[in-house]
Amino acid sequence: MAILPLLTAPDKRLKKVARPVERVDDAIRRLMDDMLDTMYRAPGVGLAAPQVGVSRRVIVADVAYVGEEKRHEPIFLANPEILEREGELVWEEGCLSVPETQGEVTRSARVTVRGLNREGVETTLTGEGLLAVCLQHEIDHLNGVLFIDHLSRLKRDMILKRLKKLKEDEN
Ligand code: NI
Repeated sequence: MAILPLLTAPDKRLKKVARPVERVDDAIRRLMDDMLDTMYRAPGVGLAAPQVGVSRRVIVADVAYVGEEKRHEPIFLANPEILEREGELVWEEGCLSVPETQGEVTRSARVTVRGLNREGVETTLTGEGLLAVCLQHEIDHLNGVLFIDHLSRLKRDMILKRLKKLKEDEN
């Protein structure tokens, strides 16, 4: 397993629509494992393949990896699709690709998602609260959408300006 480099905004690769996975083979499983390692290391509760520069529809998540306990209950999904949505909630979100930034986003409070698991078997799961937010946030990444795209244009432009400056300062 390996820690992969994370892309940060602004980066064109984060704005691309990712390609579906045809089959969950060893290469995809390896990608999933490396993404999970990278996410735990960051640390974060979710990661999408485009964030590590791989334009494929793969996400990993673990909403148990929070607080002092940090339990491991990973979720691996290829080609995830939201089948059902219910209710609404507002959550203060962050993203490993949008450093040092948080913002309130309105999401569905409960979602049911279908995809292929690490074994390539079709699976359906329903999440609410943080898991619902996380699934919607990661699936957004597969469509080239960042959480800051849900904020007002003014806020988004301010954040992007700051991130651009941050990148320039690093170089
Ligand atoms: Ni993110």
